[in-house]
Amino acid sequence: MNYEKTFQEIYNELQNVEDFGHVADYIPELAHVDPNQFGVHLTTVDGKHYAFGDSEVRFSIQSIAKVFSFVLAYSRIKSDIWERMDLEPAGTPFNSLVQLEYDKGIPRNPFINAGAIVVCDILVDELASPKENMLAFIRSLLKNNAIDYNPIVAYSEKKSGFRNYALVNLMKSFGNIKNDIDKVMDLYFTICSIEMSCRELSESFLFLANNGVVPHSGEQILSPSRTKRTNALMQTCGFYDEAGQFTFKVGLPGKSGVGGGIVAVHPEKYSIAVWSPRLNKKGNSYKGILFLEEFTTKTKLSIF
Ligand code: DON
Repeated sequence: MNYEKTFQEIYNELQNVEDFGHVADYIPELAHVDPNQFGVHLTTVDGKHYAFGDSEVRFSIQSIAKVFSFVLAYSRIKSDIWERMDLEPAGTPFNSLVQLEYDKGIPRNPFINAGAIVVCDILVDELASPKENMLAFIRSLLKNNAIDYNPIVAYSEKKSGFRNYALVNLMKSFGNIKNDIDKVMDLYFTICSIEMSCRELSESFLFLANNGVVPHSGEQILSPSRTKRTNALMQTCGFYDEAGQFTFKVGLPGKSGVGGGIVAVHPEKYSIAVWSPRLNKKGNSYKGILFLEEFTTKTKLSIF
């Protein structure tokens, strides 16, 4: 199958679709991105690569990083992670506060902001040097020491992150944040600021399509059972209050970020990353979702 030809076809089709999306600007630094960039990269579990467009350009991965931090916590934590957060779809925006009050500071899942902040609290306890250890973990997934945080983006979000501070304070009041709030939020904003290209994202997520084993090193990051569960969480919670739509249209477990990136995996087959910076009203890439919908429809490569 020549996926590059399919990518070109879908891209051409989407040129005729008006992009109703907007670049994220609630994090001021993200507003500077050229919104017309577009990239896609697919890596198969047996090592084949298919690329199109700006697939080598790095961008801010934002919430996609929540999968890396969750996997690192899930693979190392000694206590029960599910006492600190639930594993149900929230059906609310990624930064919503409403359920957290009703649920007494227990986030609905690890991929909404509240859940990802609790994961950071766990990592502060579990890791000797959380930022360095996190980066080393991501670099090991694709053998690339150039992956890094962007301190300007992290600082920009910190200065405007009032909602995230509201979430962490609310959870602290319920006793679900153990560490100093500033330490936890520093890790959260830093992790969100990681920059990667479509190629790097697709390669680094490949272990989730490969029963938890990193293809290039043979390292088992997660057990097959935990890999299944992580994919299930991406399927049900990876797109917030658009998770049902994404499942309906694309039919793959995946995760989005407000930088305009989306990664999706087909267990046993491939991992695909797409990037288009303009976001829909739910904070997910507008054309990224359209692209993936066309891709799984044309190739019949969804899990359903
Ligand atoms: O906390 C935030 O609002 C951002 N750092 C991440 C949000 C995000 O990427 C939501 N995903 N579509």
